[in-house]
Amino acid sequence: MTDPYAAIPAFYDAEFAGADADAAFFARHAAPGPLLVLGAGTGRVARLLATDRDVTGLDLSAPMLAHARAAQRPGDRTRWVEGDIRTFDLGLFGEIVVPNGTFCFLHTRADQLACLRACARALPLGAPLVLDFPSPDFSLLGTPHTPERLAWEGDVGGRAGKRTREVRRRALDLRVDLLDRYWLDGVLAATSLLPLQLALPREIEWMCEAAGFWVDAFYGDYGGGPLRDGCDRLIVRACRC
Ligand SMILES: C[S@@+](CC[C@H](N)C(=O)[O-])C[C@H]1O[C@@H](n2cnc3c(N)ncnc32)[C@H](O)[C@@H]1O
Repeated sequence: MTDPYAAIPAFYDAEFAGADADAAFFARHAAPGPLLVLGAGTGRVARLLATDRDVTGLDLSAPMLAHARAAQRPGDRTRWVEGDIRTFDLGLFGEIVVPNGTFCFLHTRADQLACLRACARALPLGAPLVLDFPSPDFSLLGTPHTPERLAWEGDVGGRAGKRTREVRRRALDLRVDLLDRYWLDGVLAATSLLPLQLALPREIEWMCEAAGFWVDAFYGDYGGGPLRDGCDRLIVRACRC
């Protein structure tokens, strides 16, 4: 599969600069010991969590990791690893977090189970795995196509950047294909297709249980609010059993 992030790390950093509510949530619920971040991307979450613990960031995208490495400050011990969240074997950790919809890139039961089993092998008994999903938007899922519209505007390396998004949905499959177009000074600079597999809480609970976890808690936002219809996020804290 082509890397949807290959041409967009600079846009990604610009758009997510200052977005730290998810990292603050992970920090508040942190467990002791080394931390593994799956789908670390350009390193935003891993960097914010690396204040006083060893952190490893794993990602499939070499261009995203190149940005993470370039942003590394002296003394920062974060380790960046290029690899697949379905097949990693990087030793034991005290906790694993899977931020910002990364798990949605796994489309089949086999891929989902492979990732969760790799997580189970990397965690001792009782250690947590935290998965952050976008919550399915039921008011939109029945709309098969939303035409291109502006999704973000901002500064990208001193130039006027923007992102537009077109969305295709298959409600029964909980499948959402996001076609993002990135623009610099009004000229199309890159396109990125993000095929996302959404999930429901009970389904996630089954997956976790099948892979050697019990679900400790669900949250509906980064403030730690409860899961409810219409909430922003679907955050799962599961523990190795
Ligand atoms: C939405 S980005 C999240 C980046 C970062 N965690 C953040 O929140 O800023 C999703 C990341 O997951 C990575 N990813 C998707 N599928 C993957 C896989 N099978 N193995 C490793 N990384 C993967 C992508 O390359 C991308 O960097």
